[in-house]
Amino acid sequence: MAPYSLVCRTLIIFAGLCAVAQCKLSSNHYSSTCPEALSIVNNAVIAAIKKETRIGASLLRLHFHDCFVNGCDGSILLDDTASFTGEKTAVPNNNSVRGFDVVDDIKSRLEKKCPGVVSCADILALAARDSVVYLGGPSWTVELGRRDSITANLTAANSDIPAPTSNLSVLETRFAAKGLSVKDMVALSGSHTIGLARCTTFRSRIYNDSNIDGTLAMSLQRKCPRSGNDNKLAGLDAQTPTYFDNYYYKNLLKGKGLLHTDQELFNGSSSTDSLVKKYVGNPSKFFKDFAKAMVKMGNISPLTGSEGEIRFNCRELN
Ligand code: HEM
Ligand SMILES: *[C@@H]1O[C@H](CO)[C@@H](O)[C@H](O)[C@H]1NC(C)=O
Ligand SMILES: *[C@@H]1O[C@H](CO)[C@@H](O)[C@H](O)[C@H]1NC(C)=O
Ligand SMILES: *[C@@H]1O[C@H](CO)[C@@H](O)[C@H](O)[C@H]1NC(C)=O
Ligand SMILES: *[C@@H]1O[C@H](CO)[C@@H](O)[C@H](O)[C@H]1NC(C)=O
Ligand SMILES: *[C@@H]1O[C@H](CO)[C@@H](O)[C@H](O)[C@H]1NC(C)=O
Repeated sequence: MAPYSLVCRTLIIFAGLCAVAQCKLSSNHYSSTCPEALSIVNNAVIAAIKKETRIGASLLRLHFHDCFVNGCDGSILLDDTASFTGEKTAVPNNNSVRGFDVVDDIKSRLEKKCPGVVSCADILALAARDSVVYLGGPSWTVELGRRDSITANLTAANSDIPAPTSNLSVLETRFAAKGLSVKDMVALSGSHTIGLARCTTFRSRIYNDSNIDGTLAMSLQRKCPRSGNDNKLAGLDAQTPTYFDNYYYKNLLKGKGLLHTDQELFNGSSSTDSLVKKYVGNPSKFFKDFAKAMVKMGNISPLTGSEGEIRFNCRELN
């Protein structure tokens, strides 16, 4: 009995150690195993944005859509195979998420330098931060040490990522389910200060919503007819779609949110109105809250320790 319980206690102690030390994310996770990891990612992200400005927005969104589906585990990067269905054809992702080739490029640069060390999930977290910084937004320290999933869940991608037709209470519920507060949700939505959206995602807003600026609605209706042109693009922030600033919130005050969900955050009497106004008047408060919320989002249920794997190719299981 004694040796057994000793083994047992030892195991519990090790499990406890893992929980408090080794298995938590840390900013210096690669400092001895791949000291150049951060600069490799940063250089590749900057090169990709120089080639196409929009890709910074696309990389930021990839991290969001990864984290909201079973945590930040690189699951969104897995391709479908004959025996495996990934998340890429889920409604919020299909014909919409982009940047996979940039992630492949970053991964292959990392594999050359330190094979089998840096996870695909961590690449997404770093690329999101580096994109925001390069486009003029705030910086933050990225916690690292996520491992990659050995599975994906299309059903969860469809149910957990909020739709652009959602109302405020649904948005709050979706974010709360991931441990994110209303303030986190409003700050993270400021991501829509960069990037583009397809006609199909804002059609019902520009024809049916009454809380949209008339001039904006008219000009969008010319681009996005009642039917057809589904993939026609418009800036989520019509003013400065390639610059990470607080124009997103300024637009909301004027009824110029592009998505129905954007305008849900400000309607003159919604519970989030005051936060939107705060971010309009105080851009550095927005930057601070955004950075904090990104770290929080990046901490959603990571795989650590010996869970999952470090994929060699982000698109497939080892
Ligand atoms: C609050 C709930 C959210 C909803 C309903 C939502 C919905 C959408 C939709 C419909 C698009 C356009 C996609 C397309 O037309 O292909 C989009 C784009 C985008 N979203 Fe969100 N989003 C939300 C929150 C977030 C968050 C939390 C982030 C990042 C932390 C984010 C980052 C982005 C970016 C950067 C783009 C532009 C991507 C590009 O140009 O490739 N969104 N979002
Ligand atoms: C995804 O998009 C493709 C190409 O447009 C389309 O054929 C397919 O039906 C879509 N899948 C889903 C699940 O919507
Ligand atoms: C996938 O996600 C759905 C919805 O969250 C859940 O009901 C289901 O159990 C998950 N499937 C697997 C295999 O984990
Ligand atoms: C928000 O949308 C959900 C789902 O469509 C609906 O059940 C709920 O009644 C709506 N809430 C408000 C306040 O409109
Ligand atoms: C506007 O709303 C109605 C009723 O919900 C819907 O049937 C129609 O498709 C919507 N129009 C557009 C352009 O989305
Ligand atoms: C504004 O949004 C709140 C919360 O979703 C809702 O209760 C209220 O009816 C909306 N007011 C207007 C004027 O649309």
